[in-house]
Amino acid sequence: MKKNTGINLCMIGTGYVGLVSGACLAEMGNRVVCVDNNLEKIKMLQKGKMPIYEEGLEELVDKNVKSGRLFFASSIKEGMMHKGHRAEAVFIAVGTPPREDGSADLSAIEKVSREIAENMTDYTVIVEKSTVPVETCLWIEKTVTRHNKKNIPFDVCSNPEFLREGVAIEDFLNPDRIVIGVPSKKAEFVLKKVYSALSKYPMLVTDVKSAELIKHASNSFLSTKISFINAVANICERTGANVEDVARGMGLDKRIGPSFLKAGIGFGGFCFPKDLEAFYWLAKQKGYNFELLKNVKEINETQKMWIVEKVQQEMWNMEGKTVAFLGLAFKPLTDDMRFAPSTDIAKELIKRGARIRAYDPVSMENAKKSMKGIYFAKDAYDCVKGADCICLITEWKEFAELNFSRVLKLVNHPIMIDGRNLYDPDKMRTMGFTYISVGRK
Ligand code: UDX
Repeated sequence: MKKNTGINLCMIGTGYVGLVSGACLAEMGNRVVCVDNNLEKIKMLQKGKMPIYEEGLEELVDKNVKSGRLFFASSIKEGMMHKGHRAEAVFIAVGTPPREDGSADLSAIEKVSREIAENMTDYTVIVEKSTVPVETCLWIEKTVTRHNKKNIPFDVCSNPEFLREGVAIEDFLNPDRIVIGVPSKKAEFVLKKVYSALSKYPMLVTDVKSAELIKHASNSFLSTKISFINAVANICERTGANVEDVARGMGLDKRIGPSFLKAGIGFGGFCFPKDLEAFYWLAKQKGYNFELLKNVKEINETQKMWIVEKVQQEMWNMEGKTVAFLGLAFKPLTDDMRFAPSTDIAKELIKRGARIRAYDPVSMENAKKSMKGIYFAKDAYDCVKGADCICLITEWKEFAELNFSRVLKLVNHPIMIDGRNLYDPDKMRTMGFTYISVGRK
């Protein structure tokens, strides 16, 4: 990466999006101050400790702090004017949690917008990076205008992120595309400078609302692909076809493409479920009934219960039976438990009388906070001890490499329900497992 080729930036919010984006923008040569109102978090970061697990993040933060391009502060005021350096662009990456009705709670964005307005001293580009409904930038603009007592010029832009947890740094530094929604040439110039180190990647410059909508549409489309293949998997099961062959056959068509056609126990994580809800809600507000998105969600909810039904079929009575969960996180390489299918699956199995033993390589601490009445095992082998049935929930590499002769000695009954199609059906059956997977014979 180029050194100090960019500009002075302030990144508000040090969650997944803010922290990864801040560290990567520094790596790209910008001088970045990451701000969070959680003082504990800032103190941790200043000591080089990460509040989240993300592959390569600690090293990247450490490297850029040592190079004098990455700083941490606990106030927006300090972040926007840091040791004599004024931030030309201020990124907003604060939380937008879902409300009861599925709409996004934007109160943190409003609060931050007001503070930005109060601390501007010269032309500032305000960049929205959190996932937000279309027109949030308009609200930011209204809020900033209202509190901009000195009439400092500013522009509000949208620069949606498309990071996948676990490979977020790679995604940021090698993007499929960079999308910037800008209201003026001046703002476009500033954002092009911010991203100058990534000039070899396609940059799409649009109006602000289109950029906001690209994020919603992309995530909802990817969720639709997953629910579609999961529905197909159900048909495969009922007809004796193999969903992996069907997905391969579909994916070879360039118009469809092979990615996001992996059948499993449904999608989770903080983006897809939340964005899907928010997009449905937003469409409704605008007078359009986007029923397809509702169906995508319903298929996903049903798919989570696929594994529960399979356990029930094999166990007959669940009362007092032990089910081992290999994996808890919504996907590998993350400790994120938000909207993880494992949570709903465990709840339902417990309701039906089962006892759960669970193990995940990195998300145990987070899981302990949100999942109750479960035995958290020391490792995968401790997890399967005495199990009447094993459920593969997350396709971590270490589960692919298990010593199965050891597993077979530890379990009560050799039943494996593979929710992610991680294993080879023939091999598992030859070893002596009763093996069930998604949409495969
Ligand atoms: C997603 C988007 O990919 C990213 O662009 C966006 O900005 C944030 O949301 P992330 O939530 O980190 O990223 O996870 P992703 O790798 O996309 O997977 C989401 C979920 O879908 C996981 O639960 C995963 O197991 C599931 N999935 C994914 C499938 O079930 N099948 C697939 O083929 C792909």
